[in-house]
Amino acid sequence: MRACMRDETPSRTAAWVALSRHAGRLLPPELQLADDPYGAAFASPLLAKVIERGVGKAPGEALVTLPPLLRWILYMQIRTRVIDDAVRAFVDGGGRQLVQLGAGYDCRALRLPELADTAVFEVDHPATQQHKRRVLDRLGVDSPSTYVTWHFEERPMAELPAALATQGHDPAAPTLTIWEGVTMYLTPEAIDASLRAIAAFSAPHSQLAMTYFTSDRLRQPSLVTRAISLAVSGIGEPWRFGWDPGALPGYLQGRGFELVDDVSLADAARAHLPASAAALVGDDGRRIATSAVETIAIADRSS
Ligand SMILES: C[S@@+](CC[C@H](N)C(=O)[O-])C[C@H]1O[C@@H](n2cnc3c(N)ncnc32)[C@H](O)[C@@H]1O
Repeated sequence: MRACMRDETPSRTAAWVALSRHAGRLLPPELQLADDPYGAAFASPLLAKVIERGVGKAPGEALVTLPPLLRWILYMQIRTRVIDDAVRAFVDGGGRQLVQLGAGYDCRALRLPELADTAVFEVDHPATQQHKRRVLDRLGVDSPSTYVTWHFEERPMAELPAALATQGHDPAAPTLTIWEGVTMYLTPEAIDASLRAIAAFSAPHSQLAMTYFTSDRLRQPSLVTRAISLAVSGIGEPWRFGWDPGALPGYLQGRGFELVDDVSLADAARAHLPASAAALVGDDGRRIATSAVETIAIADRSS
């Protein structure tokens, strides 16, 4: 089977997502749910400047309120906000370790002051991570994250817990793992292996926050979804995997996770945005799930 990502190419979907997150700065204040002043630099230094010049100005707002752009930017605002809130709640509860699987160009360790005392581990494809580190160097920004390079399809995920431990991850302390915008790009084998690896490095009271597509979204795509699907396939990052929400609790339970919350993007939009804006983001096929990791899942530690 062809690897999900072209080996030498940094992820382009990660660049697009980061650019969109940064563009949230151009939204009217009542639609801003998360702030990312770094994202666009990973896609294009020029666009980063354009966005920063537009912050707080009416023409910038006019640009991002074009419906197709607005829909996408709002989607990123909601997804980022829901996961940022999960991070804040975890830290409030005493959690001090964060693993971002497929971190891409997200910069939570820099974006969220709440993470000042938390160890952040970013795991990603070598090409994507190399690009991220080069751009941060160019910006003169020193991220406190610890970087771990990994190809989720090619390097055994069972080795990840030990690799993280070598980098200072403590398997006896709770971890919040974030798997944001990644599951749809992986094969079923990599999904299974990743969940087993997460369970293995997660101490009691650990959590997982992930986004996923419903299987229906991939099986019966709308015209727009089909167009995006063709585009991401064309750049070597095809969508491959989705879950039926009804089957997700059992799937996770079989791997040691207890599903705590599973919301559609549309529901999250209604919870966070004015009704007229929320109506634009009516996609039930994109979902955000959080799970508690059960202690029985920690196979490596109990054997
Ligand atoms: C759409 S991006 C999301 C990035 C980030 N989580 C965010 O939300 O901004 C998908 C990420 O998954 C990573 N990825 C996809 N397939 C991968 C693989 N087989 N091995 C390692 N990383 C992979 C890409 O490098 C990229 O950073």
